[in-house]
Amino acid sequence: MAKRIVVASGKGGVGKTTLALALALAFARRGKRVLLVDFDDLRCADLLLGVADRVVYDWGDVLNKNCELNDALLDAGAISLLPCPTDYGTFTPAQVREMMRGYAQQFDVLIFDAPAGIGTGFSLACAAARTGIVVALPDPTSVRSACRTAQEMESQGVKETRLILNRAVKRDIRRGLLLNIDDVIDRSEVQLIGIVPEDRALRYAAMKPGFFSPDAISFLPLSSIAGRLEGENIPLIFS
Ligand SMILES: Nc1ncnc2c1ncn2[C@@H]1O[C@H](COP(=O)(O)OP(=O)(O)O)[C@@H](O)[C@H]1O
Ligand SMILES: [Mg+2]
Repeated sequence: MAKRIVVASGKGGVGKTTLALALALAFARRGKRVLLVDFDDLRCADLLLGVADRVVYDWGDVLNKNCELNDALLDAGAISLLPCPTDYGTFTPAQVREMMRGYAQQFDVLIFDAPAGIGTGFSLACAAARTGIVVALPDPTSVRSACRTAQEMESQGVKETRLILNRAVKRDIRRGLLLNIDDVIDRSEVQLIGIVPEDRALRYAAMKPGFFSPDAISFLPLSSIAGRLEGENIPLIFS
């Protein structure tokens, strides 16, 4: 059975799409066949992958029977992308779950990039997921909103939830400008699965494809998160 992971957060702009894509690429490096599904009706993943010009169909067309499952897939190099419709229409979680059963036959990992908040797009993104990743910046409001999102995921049927702290800056944590990792663990009921540092390679990912490379400081932390999601026991170090 394909691994099915939703990446979400209460807040916008915390790095969901960037990390969903980076994790997709990390799984691809591990030899997995990966499908990234965009559930944000503002559509970002196609731009980040540099395939925006090639989008013809989206998963809304699949559900409306305007095209077959495979017609809507875009080959984006190491991974495939399934774009989001610009309107959620009357699509239901049950329809999305059924559609994803089809894609799960051809891929090892499905990653669902949710929009901000806990509205319709979020529910649709959670519909077929078993694992939920919530992304937070290392500050109190972001962590609280991520924890709340994790609870919401569980009520949508997601079985296990994990937290990624994104854009961590050691110097600012030491100065008390950002939460330290122990505080995050204390404040959060969600198990921490990884810490991704502030990284210029990710900051400029939209303008500079190929950002997920071994030279980037976020490469090892992201690869380790993919390993942990596959059940490997990789120590979490950030000091
Ligand atoms: N670890 C990081 N280091 C630096 N910039 C980051 C990092 N993660 C995300 N960003 C930047 O943060 C901004 C928002 O990211 P995005 O993935 O679009 O967020 P979301 O999907 O949560 O709205 C983007 O400009 C992205 O490049
Ligand atoms: Mg996004």
